[in-house]
Amino acid sequence: MSKIMKSLLVLMVGLLILSPLALNGAQKKGAKKMKNLVVYYSYTGNTEIVAKALAEDLKADVLKIEDAQTPSKFKAYISGGIAARNEKGWPIKTVNVLLKEYDRVFVGAPIWWGKAAPEINSYIEQTDFKGKSVVVFVTMGGSKADEAINALCTKIEAKGGKIVSSFSVKTGGVKKEDLPAKAKVKAEQYK
Ligand SMILES: Cc1cc2nc3c(=O)[nH]c(=O)nc-3n(C[C@H](O)[C@H](O)[C@H](O)COP(=O)(O)O)c2cc1C
Repeated sequence: MSKIMKSLLVLMVGLLILSPLALNGAQKKGAKKMKNLVVYYSYTGNTEIVAKALAEDLKADVLKIEDAQTPSKFKAYISGGIAARNEKGWPIKTVNVLLKEYDRVFVGAPIWWGKAAPEINSYIEQTDFKGKSVVVFVTMGGSKADEAINALCTKIEAKGGKIVSSFSVKTGGVKKEDLPAKAKVKAEQYK
């Protein structure tokens, strides 16, 4: 076999091996990126820090649930705590964001008296989660987030959402400036 023929043969074999890899790369490039929304309520700022760090890492949009009227600390701790404990709602500002343009929705709230802050319950009550993949997260001073997470998951499933996973971030004894790093560790599994 001549040198030219040998070179041609090597080139053809190389192309045959490399072309599926190149095609795969092109397909990956063209693949639709998952669109995420991070919805959260926060009273003292911890859940907001976690939500924003998560959103930054996942290039997600953010939706902040706001009180119709910010409750005083006394009102939040007592009436808000009781509402949370009883899995009730709390007046929130109107939300105009529809979930239909998102593939996955993160729903986050602080724990009050062992359950999610009531503002997030109001948001869930007025939201159509039909067919949406949902990740639930909570922040809390201590531990034992399971009860709050389970209650949130039940509410979201009742509104048609599909819970894909959940996580909690302990904020007690953690400096606010250290919270983004904790959130980013959690974000890794959703990239
Ligand atoms: C009214 C109230 C009740 C709380 N109850 C609990 C609780 O039962 N368990 C717990 O671990 N942390 C509890 N915490 C602490 C918060 O869950 C924690 O600080 C959380 O990160 C606050 O989030 P935020 O800063 O986004 O509001 C409570 C805080 C408040 C204001």
